[in-house]
Amino acid sequence: MRISVIGCGYLGAVHAACMAKLGHEVVGIDVDEGKIRSLSAAHAPFFEPGLDELLRDVQETGRLSFTTDMSAAAGCAVHFICVGTPQKKGENGADLRYVDAAVEALLPHTRPGDIVVGKSTVPVGTAARLAGILVQSEPSAHLVWNPEFLREGHAIKDTLSPDRLVYGVADGSEDHVAVSVLDEVYANALSAGTPRLITDQPTAELVKTAANSFLATKISFINAMAELCEASGADVTRLADAIGMDDRIGRKFLNAGIGFGGGCLPKDIRAFMARAGELGADQALTFLREVDSINMRRRTRVVELTRELCGGSLLGQNITVLGAAFKPESDDVRDSPALSIAAQLQLQGAVVTVTDPKALENASRRFPELQYEPDLETAMAGADTLLLLTEWQQYKELDPFEVSSGVTGLRILDGRNVLDAAKWRAAGWQYRGLGRP
Ligand code: UDX
Repeated sequence: MRISVIGCGYLGAVHAACMAKLGHEVVGIDVDEGKIRSLSAAHAPFFEPGLDELLRDVQETGRLSFTTDMSAAAGCAVHFICVGTPQKKGENGADLRYVDAAVEALLPHTRPGDIVVGKSTVPVGTAARLAGILVQSEPSAHLVWNPEFLREGHAIKDTLSPDRLVYGVADGSEDHVAVSVLDEVYANALSAGTPRLITDQPTAELVKTAANSFLATKISFINAMAELCEASGADVTRLADAIGMDDRIGRKFLNAGIGFGGGCLPKDIRAFMARAGELGADQALTFLREVDSINMRRRTRVVELTRELCGGSLLGQNITVLGAAFKPESDDVRDSPALSIAAQLQLQGAVVTVTDPKALENASRRFPELQYEPDLETAMAGADTLLLLTEWQQYKELDPFEVSSGVTGLRILDGRNVLDAAKWRAAGWQYRGLGRP
């Protein structure tokens, strides 16, 4: 099929490459010339495992191209809207200007029968509004909401083999003409047994925000338990293991630590609350305020614990922060708890060095006042205290005996509860986890 993908960020670039991998003829369109230049040279403008290789493979087949020229969408039967919906400045709601601009720019290039597919995370009601704009310009075109559930760091696998496919069509019916077109787009995943749900548009929009809210709630739940564990001397990691053995609860997303960040969960729960307010249903989501504040409290808690670990004052303490990305296998620092903690410590008088295998360029743009060191050993040299804040594999594998020789103080705070506390203590380290004795 001929497909256009509008917006080539984390979502769109991966989607375009994966659609081409599946055999479709794809053009990726973005207003950012730098991004298009980079993607055209088979180089992703961000780090995502396997993406450069995939871009190279599919570009060699001639099935994938990138451009800033929206007219390249003409002649494509399916147009995916993959632009960002960030949080509005100074408000909780989602900023829809990029979605609106993408649809406006696409309109002159749509043809009768085209299918416009929204993948961006939007407030419920957006699809119906955009569908109205679309049919005014092209009465026989259709708008479908097809939320994307990919996780950064696993984006290619999540796109090629998703857990489920959700199509939100105007009448919510299996017989809608867009259903068979999308079935053709996703033929590969469907034949591999991926479940497919047909819903109306508002349900499809809500599926995404509800899923992210649930995940955020699960993380904040276990972080609230971590607070209780800290107050009572219990161990939240064992608690999570034990409650997670109940099938109905499950162990995934029950890792207590410094909390969630990134470009999705924090802004999605806030936009969801804002939208609920507009709909007169704000009471339904007041619990998400608590989810948000438990999450933000983790960051202050880590600053306090670090102060304790440093003997009561942060002034002049050499602190090395391991990890800047909001999670491992990503260079994304949007709302990264690790970086926000590093910046707080620096503000309170510590001398902070941040290291990360992939995210330092983005981090230094976000917080230029922090000191960055790409080499792990150099970053740790002379540190009074180490903070493990993003659980990259190389940090999880650190050997306490080897690390001891380079640092000044044997103190470590494990912000992700991924180190073997007994082993570090046996090597003479003062070890602090979160929600662990
Ligand atoms: C999330 C959703 O998982 C994905 O389905 C959606 O499409 C986009 O938003 P992503 O932002 O890539 O994906 O990251 P995710 O793996 O969900 O992690 C989010 C944050 O939660 C990270 O900061 C991570 O460190 C944190 N987290 C995750 C925890 O603190 N504890 C956990 O147990 C799990």
